[in-house]
Amino acid sequence: MERLQKVIANSGVTSRRKAEELIKKGHVKVDGKVVYEMGVKVDNRSVIEVDGKELEREEKVYYILNKPRGVVTTTSDDKHRKTVVDIIDDKRRIYPVGRLDYDTTGLLLLTNDGEFANYMMHPKNEIDKVYVAKVEGVATGSNIVPLKKGINLDGVIVKATRCKLRSVDNEAKTSILEITIHDGKNHQVKRMLDAVYLPVIKLKRERIAFLTLKGLKSGEYRKLTKKEVSQLYNLVNVKNK
Ligand code: URA
Repeated sequence: MERLQKVIANSGVTSRRKAEELIKKGHVKVDGKVVYEMGVKVDNRSVIEVDGKELEREEKVYYILNKPRGVVTTTSDDKHRKTVVDIIDDKRRIYPVGRLDYDTTGLLLLTNDGEFANYMMHPKNEIDKVYVAKVEGVATGSNIVPLKKGINLDGVIVKATRCKLRSVDNEAKTSILEITIHDGKNHQVKRMLDAVYLPVIKLKRERIAFLTLKGLKSGEYRKLTKKEVSQLYNLVNVKNK
């Protein structure tokens, strides 16, 4: 669900501020009824009319990107660094779903569908986000158990729903861990691994739900297929039943 004024502004009819004025003055109908209040939420199926003319909703697009290192996950950067949106050749107002750090690589979704972005990010929807971390230290069960039990990050308990030790390099004293989470707090995986004395050297997101990076080299992207988008929506609908 998205705010009515945002949907009107995104359709290119007018700015957000003018959209608010149009609503206040009774120019806007949702599903046949005039709406005067701000903040009314609409979804992709709501019929919105401005002065009797049905709003053409921007076609929804969904991209999967293999994010390279050294790119910011935002739509614009005040330090003029390259952003993930710069990589995608699409003039629409697309934005990243969640965040990967500047030095984190791997699977990132981008879209102009706010409802989809919210669905994918909300922890209650339990969408798997699977990361592979190279860490300093030889990891053992005593590091991994607390990750699954829960780690306190600034007063909030976060858990790895799965955590697997992929390999250990006893000489270099490093380990490779696979860790699955459902939430997406800032620097969450790095902070969780720091808390169990395994500082992250390298981090990559390899999977979101059933989506993998198969066929995508670093910096490459493709559109999700209609089937993939509906499968992702279905995952959420099934969980919410
Ligand atoms: N957790 C992190 O610490 N960094 C990321 O980029 C993603 C998850």
